[in-house]
Amino acid sequence: MPQSKRFELLAQRAVNKDSCIHEWPEKGLVNMESAFDPKPSLKIANGIVKELDGKKRKDFDIIDHFIIEHALNLKYARKAMAMDSRKIARMIVDINVPRNKIIEIFKGLTPAKILQVVNHLNPVEMMIALQKMRARKTPANQAHVTNRRDNPVLLAADAAEGALRGFAEEETTVAVPRSAAMNALAILVGSQTGRGGVLTQCAVEEALNLKLGMLGLTTYSETLSVYGTESTFKDGDDTPWSKAFLASAYASRGVKVRFTSGTGSEVLMGNAEGKSMLYLEIRCLLCIKGAGSQGVQNGSISCIALPLSLPGGGRTVLAENLVATLLDLEIASGNDAMSSHSDMRKSAKLMTQFLPGTDFICSGYSSMPRMDNMFGGGNFDSEDYDDFLILQRDFLINGGIFPVQEEEVINVRRKAAKAMQAIFKEFDFPSIKDEEVEAVTTVHWSPDMPERNRVEDLKASERILKESITGVEIARALDKHGFQEVAKRILEIQKQRVTGDYLQTSAIFDANFNVLSAINDSNDYQGPGTGYRLEGETKRKIINLPQAKNPRERSTVDPSKTMGMELVEIGAATAGSDSREVVIGLGPAFGTALQETITGLPLDKVLKEMIRGIEEEGIKPRVIKIYETSDCAFIGHKAAQLSGSGVAIGIQSKGTVVIHQRDLPPLNNLELLSQASNATLDTYHTLGKNAARYAKGEATVPLPTVIDNMARLKYIVQTTLMHMKETEQVNLHLAPKELRIKFLEMN
Ligand code: 5AD
Ligand code: CA
Repeated sequence: MPQSKRFELLAQRAVNKDSCIHEWPEKGLVNMESAFDPKPSLKIANGIVKELDGKKRKDFDIIDHFIIEHALNLKYARKAMAMDSRKIARMIVDINVPRNKIIEIFKGLTPAKILQVVNHLNPVEMMIALQKMRARKTPANQAHVTNRRDNPVLLAADAAEGALRGFAEEETTVAVPRSAAMNALAILVGSQTGRGGVLTQCAVEEALNLKLGMLGLTTYSETLSVYGTESTFKDGDDTPWSKAFLASAYASRGVKVRFTSGTGSEVLMGNAEGKSMLYLEIRCLLCIKGAGSQGVQNGSISCIALPLSLPGGGRTVLAENLVATLLDLEIASGNDAMSSHSDMRKSAKLMTQFLPGTDFICSGYSSMPRMDNMFGGGNFDSEDYDDFLILQRDFLINGGIFPVQEEEVINVRRKAAKAMQAIFKEFDFPSIKDEEVEAVTTVHWSPDMPERNRVEDLKASERILKESITGVEIARALDKHGFQEVAKRILEIQKQRVTGDYLQTSAIFDANFNVLSAINDSNDYQGPGTGYRLEGETKRKIINLPQAKNPRERSTVDPSKTMGMELVEIGAATAGSDSREVVIGLGPAFGTALQETITGLPLDKVLKEMIRGIEEEGIKPRVIKIYETSDCAFIGHKAAQLSGSGVAIGIQSKGTVVIHQRDLPPLNNLELLSQASNATLDTYHTLGKNAARYAKGEATVPLPTVIDNMARLKYIVQTTLMHMKETEQVNLHLAPKELRIKFLEMN
């Protein structure tokens, strides 16, 4: 078989590095439509569930029991289960059915019924639903803050920058488990330096994790994983009850709890029991609800490449996020682990959560380069900030990240590092040198940092646990060393842990420690004009990118530069009679309001080259100024009417050129150089020669066509601004002027 060049190139595209497989439903390699999934059913006798989704009570596994005992509300179930699935699906997207009404129905649905309902929705309907069903009105975002060396100075600086950029939660983890306490401390100090009220966690083994929370070094925990099959739970030595117990241990100590689940984990661990991934995830979500968690991070999370390898992966992941909200859970909607080699595919997937808004768009946006991401590499990282920000600006969406100035970032990183320096001094940890503080203000990632003594740092981390150094003591140390503001914020966190308002569903803090949650900032979306709208100060911040330039200030005339020519108008331009002349018609701003082409070629040089080209062919150039139009074709056409040979060059000041002929209609021509961005002085020389050859009636090879696909993209704003200037010089009542041109010595 011959090999197609195009297929060969397609095979090398980033997206083809992703895995792509057919379904295998018997083994659970299927997203959300499997013939092996149970059919919805619920039989209740004397208040006891006798049958759930086609399974008799004697065959129930621990998950069935847990869901029935703790998640399924039998009070609502009879009515809800009797409803037509398609009708429920329609109610979800109906703006006239309020969120509360939907929540009530979902209290009484079995896993198979929920699957059947969401199977009726296409992705756009799911997005509409997500917009209406998420718990908190204001969207937010969560960051990962880690580095390969567990460098505490860098962790603090990155956490500070992340907080400044607007993340509401920051999550770290460890390269080495013994770093846990120090990492928790570093991002606590860093986050509160960047902005008061950022919630933090350190994802480690649960007993240690709980200890960190109890010390007041962390404020949330989302390490509690659940699975949709009993066998997977067993492999992890857990049950839904043990997870529920752990959740209450955290919550009772003022630590915000969020579970983790997501499609793919069961089949990955070989325990899918022949069920679809979404069906199993719905069982997870019901366990999470039953365990009393306020929320979940799902959307496949670490398994994301598995649902995406199969048909309907993106839709399924969106469906799991949606089901979380239908169960009235806070949703941190994935977009954390690497999902594709293809930027196009990653962005497309992101849009499904980004556009409707979720409680946390990413359940871990990598705030550092992915090579320092100890969660295995973020889907979006510090190098993607500007892409993310421009997407927010394009769609006028609050995705939970805000533009920042370089200087503020450097300052806040320095401040965090200095705060750490003070703490290390106070507790006699291995000292942080001034050189490290300075380095951390500008480094890209951990290898750029001065080396620290890892062994000594680990000892310091262990001391935090051994000596039970608490958040209060950190606050006290900071206060003592002149970091009052950070100290106050860390102390405030300790108070908030006692108050517990941020344990409400979907709670975050604003910079003044006001809680925003489903209670006081509940999502009231009920169609256009309701719900979250980007406006006011937030909108201004999202629009106001530091790289945005002021079009009013983009003048192309540099007053310090003098033109290399003098253009003197010597009277009205007349119709020429010499058949050996070519007229050059200049646009109205040529050499006056505009002095350079779009790529910065000086207009005197451009004109000189055209004249030289004409003269080399033994033809006489005559230069006139056109005032009646700024349109290239009409400049050329008007000039042609006055040319003795009938051939003329029309040039706009930005460098666009046409070669015209008297008897051609205005919008036809002999040659057009439409993309001035490709032109060099040589191009203008050739154009002069070509015009002269047309005048002589000689065979002429047109300019070679150059295709620059990016030219319009790159220059369209500059084109607009230059054309605006040219058009400002148009005078409809001013006939063409004859010009005398004097090129100055400097040429
Ligand atoms: N299901 C359950 N737990 C998950 N985690 C990640 N993805 C899933 C999933 N699909 C948990 C893992 C991991 C942490 C980041 O979250 O335990 O360690
Ligand atoms: Ca997370």
